[in-house]
Amino acid sequence: MKSEKERRIAQAKEAENRQKDRILSCPFRMKYHVMPPVGWLNDPNGLCQFQGVYQVYFQYSPLNVNGGGGFWGHCTSRDLLHWEYQDPVLTNDCPEDQSGVYSGSALIEDGRMYLYYTGNVKLPGNYNYIDKGRISSQMMVTSEDGQQMSEKTVVLGMKDYPDDMTAHIRDPKVWKEHGKYYMILGARKRNFDTGIRRDTGCALVYVSKNKKDWKLDYEILPDENFGYMWECPDLFDLEGKRVLSFCPQGLRAENERFQNLYQSGYSILTEKMSPEKGFREWDMGFDFYAPQTFEDEKGRRILIGWAGVPDTMEVHRNLSVDHGWQHCLTIPRELRVEHGVVCQMPVRELDLLSWKQEEGNACCFGREMVKIEAKMQGVHFADIRIGTGQNELTIHVEEDRIRMAFLNEEGKPSPCGGGRKSRIGRTASPVKTVLVLIDNSIVELFVNDGELAMTSRIYLEESERSIAVKGCPDCRIWKAEE
Ligand code: FRU
Repeated sequence: MKSEKERRIAQAKEAENRQKDRILSCPFRMKYHVMPPVGWLNDPNGLCQFQGVYQVYFQYSPLNVNGGGGFWGHCTSRDLLHWEYQDPVLTNDCPEDQSGVYSGSALIEDGRMYLYYTGNVKLPGNYNYIDKGRISSQMMVTSEDGQQMSEKTVVLGMKDYPDDMTAHIRDPKVWKEHGKYYMILGARKRNFDTGIRRDTGCALVYVSKNKKDWKLDYEILPDENFGYMWECPDLFDLEGKRVLSFCPQGLRAENERFQNLYQSGYSILTEKMSPEKGFREWDMGFDFYAPQTFEDEKGRRILIGWAGVPDTMEVHRNLSVDHGWQHCLTIPRELRVEHGVVCQMPVRELDLLSWKQEEGNACCFGREMVKIEAKMQGVHFADIRIGTGQNELTIHVEEDRIRMAFLNEEGKPSPCGGGRKSRIGRTASPVKTVLVLIDNSIVELFVNDGELAMTSRIYLEESERSIAVKGCPDCRIWKAEE
């Protein structure tokens, strides 16, 4: 008889196989980005390099293109660009994760992989699922090959969290430091300070000597409320700086900040300053959330984000849904610190693709990856247009301001944005360099060597794929041949 896990994974594979031809013929599939084989993808999970091979797991809903979860998808790569899909590795098959195998991370030690994730339970009934009706457990599995997982162990349950926390406690990121193991969790603390309820997003850090028994070490609380919930926290060292990455929910949109529904950003921690003070968004585009970092065997700190944001169905739509799938992960990005900013550039493996330069400042493209490099010295502005006059994304760079807009030459909304409008990014000083990567239905912009990143999905028909750069003669367009 099949176990519940085998039964569920067979269901996922059946959906993958049944829709394979449909998905493969979709005009929006990418070459070098992680996508769901079918259905929906959200957060990157368990990022690591294990036995030389890069492992990416992801929140995966093969049975529903609009999400709902149920699986950790899995793919592997030797160069962070060419991905091979494997079977899902986790599914909700035990009482502690019956409503979801939520996000988590990987720890590699002595040739073994330890995966930590949140088991989510939503009890049937009339609950608010904030204080009651939800059970969040932190779970562990181990693996010798990254694919076959051990039995699940519950390492933290509701009794182990501080009393003033709600039931929203999730997304364990685990690492080893000075001979001990640490786990950071995103949390929502109950708060009635002003007489009305206004919960506080925060993070909890647990410590362990053996990877299994954990106890609370400290809480990371903002001085002033900064969102009601923090999701997907990450804490790591980068060039001597301590970086806290987290995804606050509930920040009010400002003119040029917090333009998406939920945010994700980081703060370089200092003794004196509360983390919300130095908060800087990771990416100013439409589609970016829930990033996770890991250190690879070369010692690089690499970040991968979800090129999507939760709960945006009302605001914009991914046109790939009509083809049975939606969302992808970003290109892996190498991190470094410059002038107090964590800069992100695509991994250097990208340079090893076979790039061929186009002549001039305009070209058409197909399914190959395109790279546009523009230098802004001595020019007043640059206009990069992707699409046709009627249906295009315009990227306007002027001084320290970058505007991405799905507006066509008549100023009307471009269908290729699926309802997206415009986003603004700023740099500390006038823009010097712009790198645009286009892999079919995703555009990623890196300004001033990664001081600013902007990510957006774009849905152009194959006949509409052209590029034109104006205002900036020092511009090169490349295509990756394969
Ligand atoms: C972030 C998130 C996580 C959670 C996961 C569930 O997008 O809400 O907090 O673990 O997605 O899929």
